[in-house]
Amino acid sequence: LLSLVIADAALETVPRSIVKHPSVTRDAARKDMHAEHMLLDRSYHHAAMLKLKDASRRGRPDLVHFALLEATSTPLYVKNMLRVYVHTITDSVIIIHENVRLPKSYFRFEGVMEELFKSKNVQFDGKMLMELKGISFPDLIGRIKPELVVGLSRLGVKSSAEEVARIAGNDSLLVVGGFPRGHFSPAVSREIDHMHSINEQSLEAHVVIARILYECEKVLEKK
Ligand SMILES: C[S@@+](CC[C@H](N)C(=O)[O-])C[C@H]1O[C@@H](n2cnc3c(N)ncnc32)[C@H](O)[C@@H]1O
Repeated sequence: LLSLVIADAALETVPRSIVKHPSVTRDAARKDMHAEHMLLDRSYHHAAMLKLKDASRRGRPDLVHFALLEATSTPLYVKNMLRVYVHTITDSVIIIHENVRLPKSYFRFEGVMEELFKSKNVQFDGKMLMELKGISFPDLIGRIKPELVVGLSRLGVKSSAEEVARIAGNDSLLVVGGFPRGHFSPAVSREIDHMHSINEQSLEAHVVIARILYECEKVLEKK
């Protein structure tokens, strides 16, 4: 089965080291929540984030929302021909189960993710929709055991999306970054067998996901 991982994703709850910062406490009061249960979000916590390591790559849950909506709306996912995972920058993995329909509204997506970080899973009508595991990217590869790990990056070998889909075939893991700038962490890069660039420009993750999965769909449907 084909798998997609949104890797090093800028999705996490507010780190303990900044829970007392005024920009965080103000937001927690507005939402009537414990600060550590909120998603870290650069649009609200920018001042507090200046203290964090790797700050420019963190606090963008909106990017993950777009990327997941794109992936879970594709025919491949709807027909159970694609497994979808999110690997976060703080080394957690979200397993998206089959037939999940994510909220289109960001406000509701945020609520679902906050619930997931708190309870480690989200269920509906007794059916598991999402699980959160404290595992690293190499551990995830060890579980999925793909034939090939295919990374997408502007720094990869120039290829068309169609070529990437043909190389990936049926049993690969596609890796797209879930961060606003920069490149994959060394732990993720080390696991990638082939790195491809599908455009001279840097594209948004959801655009790359749409283009690649459409080509994969055509390749897999010919089989
Ligand atoms: C906003 S980009 C991250 C910025 C990074 N400078 C880059 O260009 O790869 C998010 C993700 O989209 C994918 N991506 C962006 N541009 C790409 C390109 N030209 N070819 C292949 N993948 C690309 C990569 O997986 C990247 O991690």
